Amino acid sequence: MTLRLGDTAPDFTQDSTAGPIHLHEWMGNSWCVLFSHPKDFTPVCTTELGEASRLKPEFDKRSCKVIGLSVDSLTEHEGWKGDIEETQGTALNFPLLADGDRKVSSLYDMIHPNADNTLTVRSVFVIDPNKKIRLILTYPASTGRNFQEILRTIDSLQLTDHHKVATPVNWTDGDDVIIVPTLSNDEAKERFPNGWKELKPYLRVVEQPS
Ligand code: BEZ
Repeated sequence: MTLRLGDTAPDFTQDSTAGPIHLHEWMGNSWCVLFSHPKDFTPVCTTELGEASRLKPEFDKRSCKVIGLSVDSLTEHEGWKGDIEETQGTALNFPLLADGDRKVSSLYDMIHPNADNTLTVRSVFVIDPNKKIRLILTYPASTGRNFQEILRTIDSLQLTDHHKVATPVNWTDGDDVIIVPTLSNDEAKERFPNGWKELKPYLRVVEQPS
């Protein structure tokens, strides 16, 4: 099944370094980043898991839980955790799914056979508290992801949900944003009483709401 934005994130039960995880129940009312790793004891993945652990307070600020996946066993995960702490200076502080039976990687289409038959690609799914998929990224095994970009996309999604704004090219937190085209000027006046800059009727720039 191809997963698309707006689809309900498939629920699953799978073992993890934090015990068995039932995704929807584990998420509760939080956002979630679910991301896959091609294999345990591989260099790029080791750096990514260190960085994601270092950034856990940033994910917490956004009410976002983080969960990794690799298609190896819990025993291998436990050994790898030691290497991550030793080499990255941070202990793994979120669950890593042990997807040896490929249950979750198949459900989320994380194995791309023309890239590699057995390893997963580097997938990222951002899932909202309603369990809807809001963002999908796919990177090849050889390219480590940019976790600042993942945080940036969560900020953007949360701003859209709360304030009816979209974020322009290269936006980062604090920059001006754009009033969504579906909001009429009358509705915009209520939401943005200090006004906005209208470059075109469809391009209305406003200070980032807090
Ligand atoms: C890595 O994580 O370093 C890696 C994994 C699979 C293929 C290439 C690199």
